[in-house]
Amino acid sequence: MTIASNISAGLDRVLTMELVRVTERAAVAAARLRGRGDEKAADQVAVDAMRQELNRLAIKGTVVIGEGERDEAPMLYIGEEVGTGRGPEVDIALDPLEGTTICAKNLPNALAVVALAQKGSLLNAPDVYMEKIAIGPGYPEGTVDLDAPPAENIVNLAKAKGVPVTEITACILDRPRHAKIIEAVRSTGAAIRLIGDGDVAGVIHTTDPDETGIDIYMGIGGAPEGVLAAAALRCIGGQMQGRLVLDTPEKIERAARMGVDDPKRVYRAEDMARGDVLFAATGVTDGNMLAGVKFGRNSITTHTIVLRSSSRTVREIKARHQDLEKF
Ligand code: FBP
Repeated sequence: MTIASNISAGLDRVLTMELVRVTERAAVAAARLRGRGDEKAADQVAVDAMRQELNRLAIKGTVVIGEGERDEAPMLYIGEEVGTGRGPEVDIALDPLEGTTICAKNLPNALAVVALAQKGSLLNAPDVYMEKIAIGPGYPEGTVDLDAPPAENIVNLAKAKGVPVTEITACILDRPRHAKIIEAVRSTGAAIRLIGDGDVAGVIHTTDPDETGIDIYMGIGGAPEGVLAAAALRCIGGQMQGRLVLDTPEKIERAARMGVDDPKRVYRAEDMARGDVLFAATGVTDGNMLAGVKFGRNSITTHTIVLRSSSRTVREIKARHQDLEKF
């Protein structure tokens, strides 16, 4: 059974809500370790919690974007089977704690993230870098282009938005490798929000500039994070292009083993996450779109966004959990 064949049965609608629990649990687990300076411990508890919840889902799931290869990740490794085994065959991309350093430092925008699609529909990206560019919905196709100079992309986006360039804000990871892009964007008069980590959130933030203040994401980040962000954009709308950075023969070979036959290919969001896609993200730390987990005396509050490509529904779920033993 596929997600598609389940649409009529309404099963994927149920799965959408089930996915919320998966990211909620991972986010709560990680949030308990916010600001403790221990990336690994926070990641580990998020992985454990996410795995436990995924295994409750009525799916025959395979992790295609996970914590790494089997030998480097004891759990939620690429190829790991998850779910009860009774249900649709699906591919899963996940990051139980996106922004491990953000969480360890208790800075904004750490997330627990998962995407689910029909078997064979997600790009099996190796854990390498990816060049990325993304903008939100409502712009003509081709407004920005991965291969155009950064300044040109900013100017074209401002034109398409109908605002002066000075009213555009680009989100870029604060890395030395981005010095040239940063210089080029600043030369246009646009503003830059430099982020320390967390480019899944960076890309998603382009979909709601009024709320987040971000119009465009540019730069090089992780390829697995690129696929997750593409899955979200498939559901909300928006444009994204990504190209794997395969700059050594070893990386080219590793990518080829995962099915990448053209190392220079530019993938659009629709190429990275095809068909029906479900996506959920829960805030771990407070962010521009999602609030972080709040621990009250008698309850825990979580804030989740859950998306479904077939209906383009964007749901925000603020949940107050009172059965604290579950957490
Ligand atoms: P982790 O959650 O694995 O720490 O990744 C955080 C992150 O900032 C991603 O959002 C981003 O894609 C990637 O790391 C960038 O990699 P690098 O830190 O090597 O520049």
